[in-house]
Amino acid sequence: MKSPYIFLERPWFVVVALAGLIGGGFLISTWIRTSDGFLLCPLVSAKGRVSENYDTKPLQLKAILHYATSTIVPQQSISEISITLDVLKSVGRPCNFLVFGLGHDSLMWASFNSGGTTIFLEEDPKWVQNVLKDAPNLHAHTVQYRTQLQQADDLLSSYLSEPNCLPSNAYLRGNRQCKLALENLPEEVYDKEWDLIMIDAPRGYFPEAPGRMAAIFSAAVMSRNRKGSGGTHVFLHDVDRKVEKVFAEEFLCKKFLVNGSGRLWHFEIPSAYNTSRSNAARFC
Ligand SMILES: C[S@@+](CC[C@H](N)C(=O)[O-])C[C@H]1O[C@@H](n2cnc3c(N)ncnc32)[C@H](O)[C@@H]1O
Repeated sequence: MKSPYIFLERPWFVVVALAGLIGGGFLISTWIRTSDGFLLCPLVSAKGRVSENYDTKPLQLKAILHYATSTIVPQQSISEISITLDVLKSVGRPCNFLVFGLGHDSLMWASFNSGGTTIFLEEDPKWVQNVLKDAPNLHAHTVQYRTQLQQADDLLSSYLSEPNCLPSNAYLRGNRQCKLALENLPEEVYDKEWDLIMIDAPRGYFPEAPGRMAAIFSAAVMSRNRKGSGGTHVFLHDVDRKVEKVFAEEFLCKKFLVNGSGRLWHFEIPSAYNTSRSNAARFC
């Protein structure tokens, strides 16, 4: 028969048992600390986890939630949207993405470029407030345009007589002489080189609206002046309208048109910096 005093007869057993108890206690306490008390209080920890994730959850999750629960969808069709998405995917890294216009598509563009920089430029300050109320993570600025749609023909026929509009001289920051130049944008817009530029604003469907003339001209200047490698992808929506079409042909150039679908054109514009094109008399 076994002695009930086995611990006294075999002291090594006591040492092993104690070591096991201490080690086990240490493991359990570590688990409890790192798992946010999951073992001790599942309800509290589940709540804690939800609120922690709520602040830090990726933009994509917000976008899924938004579009899954909204009856309002972006105006661009799936084939138009896919052109930009395919470019973002093909670049294979977070991009600098400048978007003219703030709307129902904004959360989608920002989440497609999650981890990159996506900045929205919007003409209407009230609309900025309205959109940011529901999507405060979006990075948006209000822009003042100096043009009106009804001036489009005059702007096109006269810009070559303003030296600061010429492709060889054109710049944006502070360029008040050239009415097509967006001269008063936030510094961060001038300081970045944009990999993608989406022009789906400002409004251009009534005579007093700003029209897209300055956005198209400024996108062309940004693309030409790019110093980094590769070209700039410029997407222009509403090319079924005369002004968008004519200004695109003048400044973004048919020869740089690489894709299109529906009412969207996609240009890939090479930099003119340090090339023979930098002294060209015309943009195209
Ligand atoms: C031509 S729309 C393009 C909208 C965008 N593609 C989309 O899917 O929402 C662009 C401009 O229309 C204006 N806008 C769009 N939706 C609006 C609304 N519900 N109320 C007022 N302005 C709006 C904003 O000034 C915006 O920059």
